[in-house]
Amino acid sequence: TGLVTLDTGFVNTASCSSEITYIDGDAGILRYRGYPIEQLAEKSSFVEVSYLLIHGELPTKEQLDDFTTKISRHTLLHEDLKRFFDGFPRDAHPMPVLSSAVSALSTFYQDSLNPFDDQQVEMSTIRLLAKLPTIAAYAYKKSAGQPFLYPDNSLGLVENFLRMTFGFPAEPYDVDPTLTKALDLLFILHADHEQNCSTSTVRMVGSSEANLFASVSAGINALFGPLHGGANQAVLEMLESIKADGGDVDKFVERVKNKEAGVRLMGFGHRVYKNYDPRAAIIKKTADEVLKKLGGDDQLLEIAKKLEERALADEYFISRKLYPNVDFYTGLIYRAMGFPTRMFTVLFALGRLPGWIAHWREMMKDPATKIGRPRQIYVGPTERDFIELEKR
Ligand code: CMC
Repeated sequence: TGLVTLDTGFVNTASCSSEITYIDGDAGILRYRGYPIEQLAEKSSFVEVSYLLIHGELPTKEQLDDFTTKISRHTLLHEDLKRFFDGFPRDAHPMPVLSSAVSALSTFYQDSLNPFDDQQVEMSTIRLLAKLPTIAAYAYKKSAGQPFLYPDNSLGLVENFLRMTFGFPAEPYDVDPTLTKALDLLFILHADHEQNCSTSTVRMVGSSEANLFASVSAGINALFGPLHGGANQAVLEMLESIKADGGDVDKFVERVKNKEAGVRLMGFGHRVYKNYDPRAAIIKKTADEVLKKLGGDDQLLEIAKKLEERALADEYFISRKLYPNVDFYTGLIYRAMGFPTRMFTVLFALGRLPGWIAHWREMMKDPATKIGRPRQIYVGPTERDFIELEKR
């Protein structure tokens, strides 16, 4: 007996100490390894940020060149792994395709599975960073019924991904630099966010000393859910349904406030940010610019802006400290870039990958790490005697 308090959702439970990412939810601060997200967004690149998250320091020119070269050498998928894609139905959602293919990396690269061998961990890190964009592009190609492209390793990571996604074999594909820059920025903004649901999943699975591929595959599945990474897809679906319903923002907000089952203002609210999400502020600034250049759906953008304005002035959202989060505007940008809605969460996964890797590696090196094994409060029946089948 005694008073026991549950912490469902781990709202108040710290599961580890970490040197990777700092968030102050009340002040709207986000820093990777001490560097403010605003500075990284303006001055860095996704590959450089990946190095920073994983290794703890910004790379020297030499280190960055070496890291970039290593990644570009491992972008190819084994031909047998490529055949995996044949087995999925054409209308398969690309997220489970992604997690299945990443899980399968454990079977193809058995020489890099030991979590306590530094060289093997480095090898699996490079392989994952290099191959996830290829896997993601193939998941897209499969759904579009188009031929797969081999990576072109003269291109940077983001350019290469865009070419493999939108290009065709034997046809030159000029990657639009606006698109590359915008996607690189979005990846930086998604690269880590301390102990969120998918990262905690990667840590939980890794705490049993499961290898990096197995742990990241689990993280991808956690990210799939609409309350987490799936929110970017859900935001666009929400905007489209409002548009189809005549564009009446007030009507939709009333449904949210009445807590109709399954109706939330997607892209709003955050477990940690109770003031504003600094990533959303950066994205909003670039959304207009990018959409103007790429030509997005003005009507959807208009609805999004009206919705934001309406919600920010409403007592329901004010009193609950609900502000736009990172995913409120990303979908509109992804859509303008030409990605189908189903690919949005895959893009989140590509961005979050260095964060997952950094956390898994930090945990493996931390002497305080123990297998994750929460307790519970049992509320089922007390002891009772078995009743024979014929007497039930
Ligand atoms: N629309 C309407 N009401 C909301 C929303 C929303 N988006 N978010 C929270 N609330 C309400 C909720 O109903 C509750 O009200 P009450 O106190 O009357 O019961 C109150 O606000 C607190 O919400 P909560 O569900 O206890 O908060 P949480 O910290 O458990 O959930 C969240 C955080 C992000 C899951 C939630 O805000 C949400 O579902 N948002 C919509 C989905 C979304 O945009 N997710 C992306 C998050 S950012 C990217 C990522 O990390 O994946």
